[in-house]
Amino acid sequence: MVDYKNPSLVVETASLEPGDITWRSPSNLAIIKYWGKHGKQLPKNPSLSLTLSSAFTDTKVEYRPKETGDPAISLEFFFHQEPNEAFKERVVKFLESVTDIFPFLKQLHLTIHSGNSFPHSSGIASSASAMSALALCLCSLEDRFFNTLEDDEEFDRKASYVARLGSGSACRSIYPVAALWGEFSEVPGSSDLFAVPMQEQVHEVFHSFHDDILIVSSEPKAVSSRVGHELMDTHPFAEARYADARRRLHFLLEAMKKGDLETFGTIAENEALTLHGLMMSSNPSYLLMKPGTISVIERIREFRKETGHPVYFSLDAGPNVHVLYPEEIIYEVRPFIEEQLLPFCEDNQWLQDWVGDGPVEL
Ligand code: PMV
Repeated sequence: MVDYKNPSLVVETASLEPGDITWRSPSNLAIIKYWGKHGKQLPKNPSLSLTLSSAFTDTKVEYRPKETGDPAISLEFFFHQEPNEAFKERVVKFLESVTDIFPFLKQLHLTIHSGNSFPHSSGIASSASAMSALALCLCSLEDRFFNTLEDDEEFDRKASYVARLGSGSACRSIYPVAALWGEFSEVPGSSDLFAVPMQEQVHEVFHSFHDDILIVSSEPKAVSSRVGHELMDTHPFAEARYADARRRLHFLLEAMKKGDLETFGTIAENEALTLHGLMMSSNPSYLLMKPGTISVIERIREFRKETGHPVYFSLDAGPNVHVLYPEEIIYEVRPFIEEQLLPFCEDNQWLQDWVGDGPVEL
């Protein structure tokens, strides 16, 4: 059992020079969804995601030794250059929860500047990119102070573990191309505690796959993912869902290895609708899709039928539609999106995204 608690990670404040660390980390799109958790951010089923590129968060952590011995987290937080109390509160809570992993956090005053590549109100969930960027900064801080994470694999694993504690899905953003989170007997080394890289296990067609995100609505979600996960605890279909996610994961891994786009796309769409089906059949029931979401889905299916092109959709916990397709049909799909799908988007907003190389230190 991995346990990163380490009381010896304390710094010599008298000799510590102020400094800063910046990471850019992308969002990710789950093909097999994580929905339902237990314990300390542990998933009820394994999930598999594609790592994105153009939807990312930049996070800069500036640090200096505290002048007092007060162990409380000392933080100033800026989002797009503006102080942001709501985000600050969430980050303070998160930092408090990891002080047994990074005890030096109690000794520092931190100023964090964070910003997303996508408009804040675009309806794109940013917790995966934001929490992974922050986790990477914390691991870099540890390595800078103690040289304890020089091994890249160990660094990534710890960053993934820490990111998970901030937001479950964030643990998958650490790796390029694709990542799997959750123990799954067919994937050696897989764990509920951190994600593992899957780049080598997927066909190269997925290394350049597109995921254009259509912003059907940028309204804040009526029901948060936190509440959605909680509702799974009493959901009548929960156990069947967890078993089905595992069953599908087996077929998805096989399809992604071979580059079988039809099976991949069929599973991706089914997972998206299952996620929303679980929301609709929760008690209380809720609906995050909008009429535009359904229209876009129908158009994508019609386009696929008419042209035979392997274009599929996915959804996150919101009304926006992810359009998934291989690089080789970009010149057919982009005009289709612009002409037929953008009319259903709020202010014609969309984000052109694709599978990416994972986080970078800036
Ligand atoms: O990471 P959370 O707690 O925000 O949950 C995210 C859940 C989904 O995005 C709906 C699915 C997933 O696996 O990313």
